[in-house]
Amino acid sequence: MHSGAFDPFADAIEIARRHNAWVHVDGAFGLWAAASPRLRHLTEGMDAADSWATDAHNTLNVPYDCGVALVRDPAALVAVFGVEADYLIGGAGDPAGRVPELFRRARGFPVCAALRSLGRDGLAALIDQLCARASQMATGLAQIPGVEVVNEVVFTQVMTSFGDDGRTAEAGRRLLSGGEAVFTPATWRGRGVQRCSVLSWATTPADVDRTVEAVRRVAATL
Ligand SMILES: Cc1ncc(COP(=O)(O)O)c(C=O)c1O
Repeated sequence: MHSGAFDPFADAIEIARRHNAWVHVDGAFGLWAAASPRLRHLTEGMDAADSWATDAHNTLNVPYDCGVALVRDPAALVAVFGVEADYLIGGAGDPAGRVPELFRRARGFPVCAALRSLGRDGLAALIDQLCARASQMATGLAQIPGVEVVNEVVFTQVMTSFGDDGRTAEAGRRLLSGGEAVFTPATWRGRGVQRCSVLSWATTPADVDRTVEAVRRVAATL
């Protein structure tokens, strides 16, 4: 979650099966890794889960409010959300039987448009590009004296420490007041960190360099 790390799905799901548990994968950002041949191995074993959730408004870059849930057993979904009333004309296959609302706007439209416009290769390129920028960010930040990248950057999340928690929080405040880059504070493994997720298709290598330079300037003032 914090770090963009992926769980060992095959092992975890096997344990869950032994306890007859439903396995849900929250892949808000990371499920999209499965669309990239370079990153697909991170999602290995995930296909055995009962359900997945992801957000098209994160990695796919469509407007907010485009969450996606995929459930292996359609009957389970309909058992939870299906509503019957004689004035509802949709019948068993109606999409309203698979979501909490009876009426909703066409949230799937921008998702479908983005997928069709990108195509399989374009989607993989988008995901690889975001990861490349995150990796560039991590490499640049790690070279700044006094800055440590604390996570293994496998996807689009980068977390930094500036020494102790006080300095790390202060670095976040100075970055914010500098107006050039915003990192968000978090606690990871008991340690204060400043975190960023590289998620916009529009982020260029020059944007990342500029962010790294902003951090370098802040780190020099601590
Ligand atoms: C683990 C996790 N799940 C879900 C979400 C997204 O929530 P929502 O679908 O409300 O955008 C996030 C967003 O940061 C997340 O990190």
